[in-house]
Amino acid sequence: MITVIGSLKGGSGKSTVTFNLAIWLQLAGENVRVFDLDPQATLTDAAEVRSEEGYQPAIPVFPIERVDDLNAESGETLVDVGAADMDSMMDAIAMADRVLVPVPPSQADIWSTQRFLGMISKRVNGSPGPDVLAFINRGDTHSAIRESDEAAAALISLNKVHFVRNRLGQRTAYRRSFSEGLAVFELDPRGKAAREFTALAAALYPHLLRTQH
Ligand SMILES: Nc1ncnc2c1ncn2[C@@H]1O[C@H](COP(=O)(O)OP(=O)(O)O)[C@@H](O)[C@H]1O
Ligand SMILES: [Mg+2]
Repeated sequence: MITVIGSLKGGSGKSTVTFNLAIWLQLAGENVRVFDLDPQATLTDAAEVRSEEGYQPAIPVFPIERVDDLNAESGETLVDVGAADMDSMMDAIAMADRVLVPVPPSQADIWSTQRFLGMISKRVNGSPGPDVLAFINRGDTHSAIRESDEAAAALISLNKVHFVRNRLGQRTAYRRSFSEGLAVFELDPRGKAAREFTALAAALYPHLLRTQH
């Protein structure tokens, strides 16, 4: 399955989520390939740090030059994109089974998500296209702040998007682990970030949780 982790805005958490998912999927025994189609190459950098530190499993990252291999289907493919290369982003989306959209809880991010959905519809032009899944990233962790709930309500009301309820909070663990080349659930397996991330991953790949008969 090809999953593009996409949005129009930088800083929404695409590379962070791709990196953590890649490690989670490998630990779940999946054969994983990651394509970095962002000219900023943040994911490539994080994978390099991981490799220099010798952490296992390594993340197999394919650069933009290898995008033709995207369709060589086997196992799970994750595609990290950046708005600086919209053509590559939209080409990957046209080939994808699904698009996962991290949405920070702000009105601007809801508008931007709406615009993104419109661009995806236009690109697939009448064909069913990929499933689009959205979830809240960088959600407020203080229950008195209601912005995440409002953003969630706005996402639920959008057409053509499947809302995933599992949220990721705004937590330093994501930043720290990423810069060290580790997944959040490796840096602090018992922390809140680890718990919410693994819950999100399980919601996205439910078939990996079931025992095979
Ligand atoms: N849930 C989160 N909590 C705290 N920091 C986060 C979270 N998600 C992402 N970040 C941080 O925000 C910055 C941008 O994230 P990144 O994944 O590079 O976004 P994108 O790829 O969409 O541009 C990084 O420093 C990252 O560590
Ligand atoms: Mg990025």
